[in-house]
Amino acid sequence: MTRIGSRVLCGAAALALACMVTTARAQEKKPEHKYVGVDKCAMCHKSEAKGNQFAHWQKSAHAKAFATLAGPKALEIAKAKGMTKPPQESPECLKCHVTGYGKAAELFDPAFKKEMGVQCESCHGPGSDYKDMKLMKDQKAAVAAGLVMPDETVCTGCHNKESPSFVAFDFKKAQAAIAHPNPQKAAAAPAPAAPK
Ligand code: HEC
Ligand code: HEC
Ligand code: HEC
Ligand code: HEC
Repeated sequence: MTRIGSRVLCGAAALALACMVTTARAQEKKPEHKYVGVDKCAMCHKSEAKGNQFAHWQKSAHAKAFATLAGPKALEIAKAKGMTKPPQESPECLKCHVTGYGKAAELFDPAFKKEMGVQCESCHGPGSDYKDMKLMKDQKAAVAAGLVMPDETVCTGCHNKESPSFVAFDFKKAQAAIAHPNPQKAAAAPAPAAPK
């Protein structure tokens, strides 16, 4: 019944657009994961015993990435490029200096603040669906819900020649500079086999 109905609908030229819309909706995948913002992650990632990832991030350049766009160096770059809008309002700067730039407005939690710069979710993926305690404790489940355990390609999405101040990117060094390991995990990892 429905199938015939839909064919009739599609056949009617006047309703072709409605048909296309209906088909597109049916093909839509699950809703996309949303950006919740660093404050949400911080609620559970502030414990010293587990490495206080929030404190590490807060001290990093990433936390200041939006603020940097209002500084003298940024204004100089903007002037040299002949930009008409301030860097903090320019897509050509924001795309790497905030989290999730260019994503649809409905993909951001109301509490999300772009002012927080390059946040956890710039590297770990939007967290609305993996941030539940139960999923977080199970890496496979968390990854299935959108968690990214980032490799070099995530970094070079921003650390590349398109950056007006680009300096050669050394992944090992850069990763060491932003490291925020959980010491409990390091301790739990199997020790390398000792010779007998
Ligand atoms: C409700 C608490 C909670 C929230 C909110 C939360 N996490 Fe977690 N997260 C955990 C727990 C618990 C673990 C397991 C390790 C541990 O005990 O610290 C974990 C593990 C992780 C891991 C390591 C996964 C692995 O298997 O090695 C990453 C990465 C991570 N969280 C990122 C985030 C990010 C990014 C956010 C915000 C979008 C976030 N978390 C929000 C509780 C939380
Ligand atoms: C969304 C874009 C983005 C991603 C993804 C990103 N970064 Fe950055 N990173 C920046 C920006 C922007 C700055 C400069 C911030 C400032 O100075 O205000 C920066 C600065 C840094 C710095 C300090 C300055 C420097 O170049 O030495 C390090 C270290 C760094 N990033 C490492 C990494 C690593 C490692 C990864 C991947 C695991 C990564 N970044 C992913 C945008 C990004
Ligand atoms: C392709 C990503 C990308 C774009 C686009 C981008 N930046 Fe950056 N920006 C970075 C990264 C990554 C860094 C860290 C240093 C580096 O490797 O360039 C950075 C660092 C900076 C710094 C700090 C430099 C220093 O020496 O302290 C300033 C200022 C800056 N960017 C301004 C801007 C302005 C202004 C724009 C827009 C005209 C812009 N950026 C566009 C990625 C980008
Ligand atoms: C610039 C990119 C970047 C940002 C920003 C970032 N992380 Fe990470 N994070 C990484 C990388 C790279 C790893 C190591 C991945 C691996 O081991 O495979 C990691 C690992 C982790 C781990 C696992 C630690 C362990 O030893 O098991 C946790 C938990 C975590 N991040 C939480 C966070 C939280 C919370 C924030 C924000 C406060 C954050 N990260 C911000 C890149 C980032």
